[in-house]
Amino acid sequence: MSHLVKGQRALITGASSGIGEELAVALAARGIRTALVGRRRAELDRVVARCEAAGTPAIAIPGDVSEPSFAPEAVQAAVDAFGGLDILVNNAGISMWARFDEIEDLSIFERLMKVNFLGAVYFTHAALPFVRAQRGQIVAVSSLTGITGVPTRTAYAASKHAMQGFFDSLRIELRETGINVLVVSPGFVDTPIRDKVIGADGKEQGYQGRTSEKPMSVEECVAQIVSALDRRERELVMTARGKLGRALRLVAPGLVDAIAAKAVGDPGR
Ligand SMILES: NC(=O)c1ccc[n+]([C@@H]2O[C@H](COP(=O)([O-])OP(=O)(O)OC[C@H]3O[C@@H](n4cnc5c(N)ncnc54)[C@H](OP(=O)(O)O)[C@@H]3O)[C@@H](O)[C@H]2O)c1
Repeated sequence: MSHLVKGQRALITGASSGIGEELAVALAARGIRTALVGRRRAELDRVVARCEAAGTPAIAIPGDVSEPSFAPEAVQAAVDAFGGLDILVNNAGISMWARFDEIEDLSIFERLMKVNFLGAVYFTHAALPFVRAQRGQIVAVSSLTGITGVPTRTAYAASKHAMQGFFDSLRIELRETGINVLVVSPGFVDTPIRDKVIGADGKEQGYQGRTSEKPMSVEECVAQIVSALDRRERELVMTARGKLGRALRLVAPGLVDAIAAKAVGDPGR
């Protein structure tokens, strides 16, 4: 049985680029109307046009997910436009690349927690009554970094571990509601996030670290998310290395640390 049904309505944060953009277009191709959230209005309008070209209306709701007052407004705008909400996808996120002992601007921690974690909390709180009414789905786009630590990503890993803990707890609270909570943990995905990572000085810079494996295409990543939504899965851990790492962590955590260090080329000191 397919749980993604034509006529459903989804709100996607971080829909102006990368995974959120491609997911919006993929859902539009399945006849699902989408409300697209992000800060850049022009990019959201571009994605709206792509969704409409795929055959389904979409709307742009520009704003910053880290502003607590924005989520209730955005969710209400989506509900007003579509008459309800079946799926919330908490996908907006920012990343970093710096060893902790080299960080000069500690506001990185606050910024990553506010966007990656608190943004998801605010949107989930605002959307919950509407998703509950439809016995719908809540998605958290976390990361393999939400399952195991990764050097040069201390703030990012903390924000994604926070997401994992929050949504795992929420899933249990909601077990009698018919809502499915899906946590998605991608590995490296080929998106523009790499051009915007925050460095030790707190400024955006291109990622200059190494990546030991070829990134997954955004299309493959989104195909996996759509399939997990279709089956109402509770967890989606991407890549063979991610799945192996999660299991190995219980019996050989030091080995998983070494794999994580090698993945980003951190020498340790
Ligand atoms: N790419 C990877 O390798 C990878 C791996 C694991 C997990 N992930 C996760 O996947 C998610 C999507 O990332 P991506 O790779 O698709 O990156 P991306 O192309 O940079 O997209 C990030 C999206 O988040 C939005 N965003 C950022 N800050 C925001 C804010 N304060 N308020 C509202 N929207 C905001 C951006 O829109 P605006 O700039 O218009 O606001 C953009 O639409 C993130 O949560 C990321 O952590 C990515």
